[in-house]
Amino acid sequence: MSKDHRVLTGITTTGVPHLGNLVGAVLPAIEASKQENTTSFLFLADYHSLIKNSDSKLRHQSSFDIAACWLACGLDPNQVIFYRQSDIPHIFELAWILSCLASKGLLNRAHAYKAAISDNQAKEIEDVDKGINMGLFNYPILMAADILMFKADSVPVGQDQKQHIEMTRDIALKFNHHYGQILKPPEAIIDINTGILPGIDGRKMSKSYENTIPIFAEEKVLRKVIMKIQTNSLEPGEPKDSSDCNIFKIYKAICTKDKIDDLQKLYDEGIAWGEAKKVLFEELNSFLKPYRDEYNKITKDKSFVERTLVEGSEKALSISGPIIEEVRQAIGIKGF
Ligand code: TRP
Repeated sequence: MSKDHRVLTGITTTGVPHLGNLVGAVLPAIEASKQENTTSFLFLADYHSLIKNSDSKLRHQSSFDIAACWLACGLDPNQVIFYRQSDIPHIFELAWILSCLASKGLLNRAHAYKAAISDNQAKEIEDVDKGINMGLFNYPILMAADILMFKADSVPVGQDQKQHIEMTRDIALKFNHHYGQILKPPEAIIDINTGILPGIDGRKMSKSYENTIPIFAEEKVLRKVIMKIQTNSLEPGEPKDSSDCNIFKIYKAICTKDKIDDLQKLYDEGIAWGEAKKVLFEELNSFLKPYRDEYNKITKDKSFVERTLVEGSEKALSISGPIIEEVRQAIGIKGF
């Protein structure tokens, strides 16, 4: 790997992450950012949130909550370039430039846009574009600009974002074809593990199923949620199958091998479900406590979060500035 391998990830600023996001995405991304020879770019994709949501208070609050969450979970702003998308005007300038290269047909094929059209068709609405704004349509271009603005080498994303990275590559190659080798077609790094954690009802943990385990909730609330995890109706004393158990799967995601073996023994011996939940609660509570304490501390000091993001944006701007200048020169937007 070259010395300055750039890894870039955008975080959508909606809802505070739950346990599934924490173990599947947030902690692995923070761990990955510690790798030597890489520069990690992590940003709040706050302008992306305009597509779906017109509640300005909610947008503002969500941005703060998410920033506080990542900092509380161990993101080190000295190791990572952590910034708000909205603080980097160059991204939006590049987005326009790219939109004049990307063909409309390419964007017609974007999953999110196609899904919106299908929805209208299913409802037998005559105008298939009804209710679809240009933000939704152009979304892949803004995402391409987020990535190409920093010449990122790789972009870790969920499977659902794979198409966006392919489009980004397409657009970068087209730019380079017309204007010279300037933009860097990025590689997608697809995480196949994300989303495997079950929620309290056994389906994939997801906000839309309302089955999530919060990560910053007080002990009492956390205990209540854990007690609601669904199990089968085996009685105390009957051996339990750990491979098909929601309690065990969640426990496994946060515990060391020794602890997993210990609980396995208790399952073989027929631990009561109430007891198993207590064991999980104790472990989960001590796993989450440091994050929760840090989160509570950070949310009391908004200026710390603000300062951190401003410093991050200064670092980001020092990289995007020369690149946008290079792009302007290449396209012939320059002084006489
Ligand atoms: N679209 C991404 C998501 O929904 C968020 C995002 C915006 C992003 N810009 C990005 C991710 C650039 C990676 C790179 O999760």
